Amino acid sequence: MTRAYVLNGPNLNRLGSREPGIYGTGSYADLVALCERTGTEAGLDVQVRQTNHEGELVEWLHTAADEGASVVLNAGAWTHYSVAVRDACALLTGPLVEVHISNVHRREPFRHTSLISEIAAGVIVGLGLDGYRLALLHLAAR
Ligand code: DQA
Repeated sequence: MTRAYVLNGPNLNRLGSREPGIYGTGSYADLVALCERTGTEAGLDVQVRQTNHEGELVEWLHTAADEGASVVLNAGAWTHYSVAVRDACALLTGPLVEVHISNVHRREPFRHTSLISEIAAGVIVGLGLDGYRLALLHLAAR
């Protein structure tokens, strides 16, 4: 079965209570359940993770690169400035889909820049948690 990592960066473990007007009321546990359910339906081995530590995300990306796995990545704030996360993404040999829950283009100018989009197969923004489901369905269909 094809493995797909769903990797989440800082503060995403606070979904549900974190700025619900922007990120909605779905919790991180809801996100994990949605991704695992989608994996079961689509025939993907989905591994969902979240970290507040940049080096940990870099190491997970290295593992995904070594396995040739697909990745759905919401790097949170690191999206906008982390060269280390981008460089780790560049090591991936499987497809990468960048996801943002909010429509970053309707928000502050510093959120309009992504260091990741340029090397992603595709980007989904502003569709809430559904963006993760759509990203996984895309990866399953590739
Ligand atoms: C986010 C958007 C980022 O700008 C922000 O720092 C996040 C979440 C999103 O999913 O909309 O942490 O990636």
